[in-house]
Amino acid sequence: MSDNPSSPILLFDSGVGGLTVYDALRKVLPEAPVIYAADLAGLPYGTKTEAQIAARVAGLLGRMAERWQPRLACIACNTASTIALGMVRDVLEIPVVGTVPAIKPAAALTQSGTIGLVGTEATIRQAYVDDLETQFAQGKRLLRVAAPGLVQAAEAKLRGRAVDPALIAGVHDRLTAMAGADRIDTLVLACTHFPLLADELAAVFGEDVQHVDGAAGIARRIAHLLEGQSFAPSPGPNRFVVTGPLAGAAGLEGALASRGFGDAEAF
Ligand code: DGL
Repeated sequence: MSDNPSSPILLFDSGVGGLTVYDALRKVLPEAPVIYAADLAGLPYGTKTEAQIAARVAGLLGRMAERWQPRLACIACNTASTIALGMVRDVLEIPVVGTVPAIKPAAALTQSGTIGLVGTEATIRQAYVDDLETQFAQGKRLLRVAAPGLVQAAEAKLRGRAVDPALIAGVHDRLTAMAGADRIDTLVLACTHFPLLADELAAVFGEDVQHVDGAAGIARRIAHLLEGQSFAPSPGPNRFVVTGPLAGAAGLEGALASRGFGDAEAF
């Protein structure tokens, strides 16, 4: 248990997707000091190899934990979690919370028994996802689709830029071309960036298809792990730190300010 009340929670993602976890966390732990780290120099993870992602995520989190002494780290990224969670847990000496595709809650919610799962190219091929399917979706049909481009679309949207409707339509068309897809009533948003595109996804999949993501569950898990710990009032705004050039955060000013972050900083 952390005995330093100023020790932050470290939220880590390749980009702004983890802000969907941050938003959920704020609802359950409004006072906790947070450092949000976006690996913009490594974005997107979804098109990288397992070895590249594991080395990058474990290396960065090791350096970040040493620098900031967080009380807990959350890998707010499905791609990084399904590949590197075990390795990061071996490296860090604090609790590490991962973000994995919300197959369990989706399986509990589906009425039709057919679930769509939208993730990055790297996430949908992970054995971790096979295991979740075996464990929690027995007797259900789980149709997985990769959504290249959606991570960048979410990044652009948060910077105030338009989302290309063809990207969203492409994901819909590839998923609905699969056998049995007409019965999908539940869509797992298996990338923390995708809830930022919930409106665009609802527009093509229809309001009858419910979206499920892990953000609220992860926030509850973090709050549970930190139960009983004290939080010193933060001396300033929460910190938003990016790898690579600071220019990568240009356009995010409004999204950061509205969430109580200060100006973006370079790692
Ligand atoms: N937010 C990350 C995830 O949950 C995006 C990965 C990427 O950078 O491609 O998968």
